[in-house]
Amino acid sequence: MSSIPAKVKKAVFPVAGLGTRFLPATKVLPKEMLILGNKPLIQHAYEEARAAGIEEFIFVSSRDKSLIESHFRPHQQLHQTLVARNKTAELASLQGSTVDEDKLSVIYQEQPLGLGHAVWCAREIIGNEPFAVILPDDVIVGSSCLAQMMEAYEEVGGNLVAVENVPRAETAKYGVVDIGFDDGRLVSVKGLVEKPEPAQAPSTLTIIGRYILQPEVFGHLSNAGKGSGGEIQLTDSLAKLIGAQAFHGFRFEGRRYDCGTGLGLLKAGIAYAMNDNGADGHLAEFMKDQLKSSGIGQYSLR
Ligand code: G1P
Repeated sequence: MSSIPAKVKKAVFPVAGLGTRFLPATKVLPKEMLILGNKPLIQHAYEEARAAGIEEFIFVSSRDKSLIESHFRPHQQLHQTLVARNKTAELASLQGSTVDEDKLSVIYQEQPLGLGHAVWCAREIIGNEPFAVILPDDVIVGSSCLAQMMEAYEEVGGNLVAVENVPRAETAKYGVVDIGFDDGRLVSVKGLVEKPEPAQAPSTLTIIGRYILQPEVFGHLSNAGKGSGGEIQLTDSLAKLIGAQAFHGFRFEGRRYDCGTGLGLLKAGIAYAMNDNGADGHLAEFMKDQLKSSGIGQYSLR
């Protein structure tokens, strides 16, 4: 890139989904409010964006998921009680979940028409500038994935998606990259296919829920028809940018957990607890006991 790309200041968080895979837990509780460590999933996503320098947070939500935005609003009564009781540590932990009124927008996706439609719903707030998209289901443990992407974006500009390899049998769960040049960290994207069957997938390198995109994608989203699963897919409109704008896949550092499934959320929870100095000794002991009593791994644990 000859010129410095425009700074990315806004991030879109598509959070309108029904969370059916977690029913009955998500009957009234938004799946983004499920707990990982001591925070809901959406706060992990928010903190990752903040660590990447994002200044404006846009939730594309549904009307019955107001708990999500409530979580980020000040809670005066709780605040006053904690002050009166001199609970300094608790007050500090509350601070991380409070976003200034003018930095947080909520837009409603009135119909569940797909991820492409959800992102399109944010077009007026984004305007004519590059923006990030974070899917809170994909949790990346380690340093902020979006911050890593911002560094790469400063080098290459254009559009950037986080990517990782998955087993070929799983390509039908992801957007898959047709790989051009590959330097190990950055991959030039020749094509993108949403949820191909393993035999049709151009590679096993898949999109993970982190994107830095140029506003031109909205033009394609405005005209987008239904794609995979009968939904308006973001990947289909991204594919139309290839050739017209720079488009790269970025292999991030850190481990990704699919917290859209119970097992993924549980694994991420264990990873978080193991990283937490206070918990790792206890948890390791507990897990050893569990493995021993179920007869699994008795040799490898010696
Ligand atoms: C979405 C995207 C897909 C991407 C995936 C990452 O799919 O459409 O391209 O690979 O997120 O998690 P979803 O998981 O919403 O079906």
